Amino acid sequence: MGDLAQKPLLEKAPTTHAGLLAWVEEVAELTQPDRIYWVDGSEEENTRLTDELVAAGTLTRLNPDLFPNSFAAFSDPADVARVEEQTFICSENKRDAGFTNNWMDPREMKDKLRGLFAGSMRGRTMYVIPFVMGHLDAEDPKFGVEITDSAYVVASMRIMANIGTAVLDKITETNAFFVPALHSLGAPLEPGQDDVAWPCNPDKWIVHFPEERSIWSFGSGYGGNALLGKKCYALRIASVMARDEGWLAEHMLILKLTSPEKKNYYVSAAFPSACGKTNLALLDPTIEGWEVETLGDDITWMRIGKEGELRATNPEAGLFGVAPGTGWGTNPNAMRAIAKGHSIFTNVALTDDGGVWWEGMTDEVPAHLTDWQGNSWTPDSDKPAAHPNSRFCTPIAQIDMLAEEYYSPEGVELSAILFGGRRKTTVPLVTQARSWTNGIFMGSTLSSETTAAAAGQVGVLRRDPMAMLPFIGYDAGDYLKHWISVSGKANPERLPHIFLVNWFRRTADGGFAWPGFGDNARVLKWAIERIEGKADAVETPIGYVPAGHALDVTGLDLTHAHVEDAVRVDREEWDAELASIEEWYAKFGDSLPDALRSELDSLKDRMSRH
Ligand code: GDP
Ligand code: PGA
Ligand code: MN
Repeated sequence: MGDLAQKPLLEKAPTTHAGLLAWVEEVAELTQPDRIYWVDGSEEENTRLTDELVAAGTLTRLNPDLFPNSFAAFSDPADVARVEEQTFICSENKRDAGFTNNWMDPREMKDKLRGLFAGSMRGRTMYVIPFVMGHLDAEDPKFGVEITDSAYVVASMRIMANIGTAVLDKITETNAFFVPALHSLGAPLEPGQDDVAWPCNPDKWIVHFPEERSIWSFGSGYGGNALLGKKCYALRIASVMARDEGWLAEHMLILKLTSPEKKNYYVSAAFPSACGKTNLALLDPTIEGWEVETLGDDITWMRIGKEGELRATNPEAGLFGVAPGTGWGTNPNAMRAIAKGHSIFTNVALTDDGGVWWEGMTDEVPAHLTDWQGNSWTPDSDKPAAHPNSRFCTPIAQIDMLAEEYYSPEGVELSAILFGGRRKTTVPLVTQARSWTNGIFMGSTLSSETTAAAAGQVGVLRRDPMAMLPFIGYDAGDYLKHWISVSGKANPERLPHIFLVNWFRRTADGGFAWPGFGDNARVLKWAIERIEGKADAVETPIGYVPAGHALDVTGLDLTHAHVEDAVRVDREEWDAELASIEEWYAKFGDSLPDALRSELDSLKDRMSRH
């Protein structure tokens, strides 16, 4: 290691971790950056980097009176979402990637990537970001180091994870394993070449090597493609670690619900991207006496506790939320957190007084804006002012209703798990699973109409098991088996109750069958009352739905008949649904757990008698 430390590029390396030094050296040799910079995570550093980004035109400083220490970024129009087509799980064996993932032989992929990364950081700074997902004081902290040539990524990672010197010192002291996460925009600069505001490369590759637990991301500067602690590590790589170590890494929010009797319940919920996690996590209940606090809005790590209970933590430190639809009416808690500043907005519109705006932020639409592509915009423009997948990136600590348990490395015991998707028809507002395995069946057949969160067509129905379709880092059938096996180690009395929800069902006239947002507290209330054995339900072939009078609609302009309509199980719709589930399950081949096959068979049997 003495040798390595002598090399000029690494002279000032603030670590003696041999593996880390060797990797940084290797990457620098491959990518040929002008300089190497070790990120310390300090305030001064952030000021310097954001100043540089403003000077380079990547960031626009917002009016500090409106949004202190906040910035807007505008991406290349071809770099606005996760690229699932270009996302790969390169396991040693193709079988282990399963049918839900793109796969290429890891050696072939490495050769290809080495070609792409060769010289890819020329003319740029290579930033080394030590980070930890979850608590630095966890029993087994999950470390990573991201190498990137994007200062925007550094500034965003600083919001989304704990980064910098304290983390690096712990990695060094404990000689810890870390996930090497390599990112390059793929836009080297020739001497004298002018930079653009949002460098990226049309050729994008988001690649995971699950056995090695490494990530290589090339060509995109956007969100889940580039902030590698988030989807790439905390879901795809972590799901593989979780399989091997007996825990679960899931695409879920965590909230804390306090009843009028002051009893606390912790609930997690898995919804696909842009289907309501952040909104439910930051719920402002519209019913008297019920309180909600939040622990997380996107990723949940769960393990079985000492007493056989299922415990959940949020490994992230920030929110990377969908901006459109987030407003003072729908999500005041998010709005208050954003208003404190220290945020980075991407692809939102700018107001003339140096603030931000997006569709749904305020009832009143500003008379003039600059849209996300820099064009003058007025309400008669035929295009939205903000990109549909525009985002706010904000520290979680700025949320007033953050539960203090967020800070506990042990996490919280879950009482309920919700699975939900965006379905115009078929799926009732809420259905309680008949049993834990029946709940896993619900999760495994979860479906949703696609959104702008991923590149590709919007509004196409796809199955999205546990909302993890783009994030399962291994074979999908093995993943479902793992869910069954982990819960096999739990105390059956302490397993959470599982519910399927759908905030997006439509009525015959095309409107939403349920008002959603803050009123979703009424659905949570019913779920908790079911757990306590206090609420009435109607048994249907798919599970238990609220009896018309059992859902609290006090103060709403809704009758019990509306509720019955929102929770209706329609035989014709379900015949089509069962055929579609049958097709979905066929894709698993031999890998489908028997217990889930029998769940489908019993459901078909119950439906035929319905
Ligand atoms: P996430 O990506 O899963 O965190 O989803 P968000 O909470 O950011 O919501 C994505 C989109 O769904 C936003 O446009 C929201 O306004 C919308 N949304 C969220 N919750 C509800 C709801 O209860 N009802 C309806 N109709 N829309 C919702
Ligand atoms: P999401 O994640 O789309 O699930 O919200 C953000 C991203 O990956 O860009
Ligand atoms: Mn979200």
